[in-house]
This record gives sequence, C-alpha cells and structure tokens, in this order.
Amino acid sequence: MNLLITGGLGGMGSELVQALAADSHARVISVSRRALPVDRHLPSNVMHESGPVLDEAFLHDVMHRHAITHVIHAAGARTRECESRPEIAFEANVLATDRVLCAASTAGTVRRFIHLSSAAVYGGKEHAITENEPLSPVGYYAITKAASELAVRYRLSGTSMQAVILRPGFIIGKQTSGSLSDFLRLAAQGQNATLHHPDHFHLHWAPDLARAIIHLLHANLPDQVNVYHPPGRDCSLHELAHLMPEQRKAIQAHHNTTLPQRLDGSKYRRELPTFELTGWPEIMYQLQNSTHPTLPSL
Ligand SMILES: NC(=O)c1ccc[n+]([C@@H]2O[C@H](COP(=O)([O-])OP(=O)(O)OC[C@H]3O[C@@H](n4cnc5c(N)ncnc54)[C@H](OP(=O)(O)O)[C@@H]3O)[C@@H](O)[C@H]2O)c1
Repeated sequence: MNLLITGGLGGMGSELVQALAADSHARVISVSRRALPVDRHLPSNVMHESGPVLDEAFLHDVMHRHAITHVIHAAGARTRECESRPEIAFEANVLATDRVLCAASTAGTVRRFIHLSSAAVYGGKEHAITENEPLSPVGYYAITKAASELAVRYRLSGTSMQAVILRPGFIIGKQTSGSLSDFLRLAAQGQNATLHHPDHFHLHWAPDLARAIIHLLHANLPDQVNVYHPPGRDCSLHELAHLMPEQRKAIQAHHNTTLPQRLDGSKYRRELPTFELTGWPEIMYQLQNSTHPTLPSL
C-alpha cells in the first residue's frame, strides 16, 4: 500500500503517521504546506512532501511519483478560522478536497479515499443520531464540511475508487489542539485551565480513531461511498468533572447548538472489526506526558 496523508503534520495526520510506523507493508507519504520541522523525526516508512493541497498539479505529481493506492484526506481548516474567514473555509475544506479527489481519480492508481468530515454537518441535535440523519449544518465550518462530502460523491461517480466519509465529534490526542484538547492536557499535567464547552459531546481518542481509519483502508466495504461515525464515546461535562474533581470549578457549560450531542456508532460496530476503546486512566496518563507540538508558521 502506498498511502498519501494530507494534513500530515496536523493533529490527526501526525497520529496516523505514528500509528502506521509499525506497518511494514505501508509506504506513507505525508503532505503538508509546511516543510518538515527540523525536530520532527519520521518513521523509516514515511516521507514528507511539502506543497499546497490546493495545487492539483503538485498533488498529481506526488501521486504519480509514489504510485499512490490509498488516500487519507485529513487536511482542513479549523472551526474558528472558518467562521472568521469564510473564504478560507471554502478554499481549505471544499476546493482542497475537490483537488485531492481530482488528482486521485486522474492518477488512476488510487483504490480507496478516506475523508475526514465532521459530525458538525448534522448541526445541533440532542438525540442520538445515525448516519441517516438529514444534514443541517450551521456555520461555515459545518457548511463547507457538508459540501466536501458532496464533492466526494460527485468525484467518485464513474470511477472504481471506494470512499469512506467519517463524521467524528471531538478528537483529542497528544498532538491535537483545540479548547478541549488543551484543557485536558493542562489538567492532566496539574495546571490551571478553564473549559467552556457543550454539556454533552461525542469524543474520540486520536489513537483509537487512527486505529479505526487504518482498518478502513483495507476492510471490505459494502458501497462505493460509505459513511460512518467512527468509534468514540458520548461524554458529559459532569463525567469530566467527576474524573478531575480538582478542576470541577473550571469546567463550565456553554450552550452550543451547532454540534450533535450524541452519535450512534452502531453502524461501524455492525460492519467493521471493533476493538476496546482506550480508557480514561490511560488517556490522562498519555496526556500527562505530552506537549503540544508547535508547528512553524507559514
Ligand atoms: N480536531 C477535531 O476535533 C475534529 C473533529 C471532527 C473533524 N475533524 C476533521 O479532521 C481533520 C483533521 O483534523 P485535525 O484535528 O488533525 O486538524 P489540524 O490539526 O488543524 O490539522 C489539519 C491540517 O489541515 C491543513 N490546513 C489547515 N488549514 C488549511 C488551509 N487553509 N489550506 C490548506 N490546508 C490547511 C493543515 O496542514 P498544513 O498547514 O500542515 O498544510 C493542518 O495541519 C480535519 O478535516 C477536521 O475538520 C477534526
């Protein structure tokens, strides 16, 4: 397998690169707009290519040179940036996805495309939702993630590629950033931090998500385009406060209507090999021993 990972220096991209280090059958090409930081050491089966994901010629060249057979598209703009700069949201989430898909379909060697969308495409819902829930995105991040899914469907039609669209809730990991990740990392390290967060939310520990994504590269899939809620757990602020009583006062609910509170993961469990999710004690131990990597600015 020759695997290209876009957003290879991002939180999930880095996690996937680490998780694939042990796979001697995988040659991994990480793509990012940034050069590889000098202090970042890649596993021996991983190469880094820097260039813009919006540049189809660059992507086509990378896919051609490395005879790419699988793509994980993990590049995308963050919620905050999307809301303050909608043009970036359309560029990074819709156009870039479309360009990566175009390059993959013209390369002719790509068999599977895994796309990281988001549960934000459903909008704020209180009930547990399945993948059949109608999309109702609120805000530019969610709107452009929903549009990126349409680009996947549109570009795959008439090709022999198969795709997986994943709709995670919140991802936390040793290398992810964001208010929840940052809070948990600081809390695990005994530092003071505050969290303003929706009361109920669906959470994925990045190494568990990486494991699921790696399964999806090879699993038998029923359809050309397959949508899943990847393995994760419904959580509440009450549960977090129980886990870290000394931070209780620093955890505050804020009403957020733009994300679903509960995701039904039964479709993934029915159709794919499952595994035990990492427990909270191990997650907190891992976060205790992590520092958030600082990427060089563009
Ligand atoms: N983190 C979460 O809680 C969460 C939840 C649901 C879905 N997701 C989705 O999962 C994917 C990976 O998330 P992540 O947490 O790994 O995000 P991340 O750490 O921000 O990494 C995303 C990567 O996307 C690239 N990118 C950002 N803005 C861009 C732009 N304007 N143009 C082109 N590339 C751009 C960056 O790569 P370079 O700067 O290195 O090129 C960045 O490293 C994203 O698509 C995200 O929407 C994340």
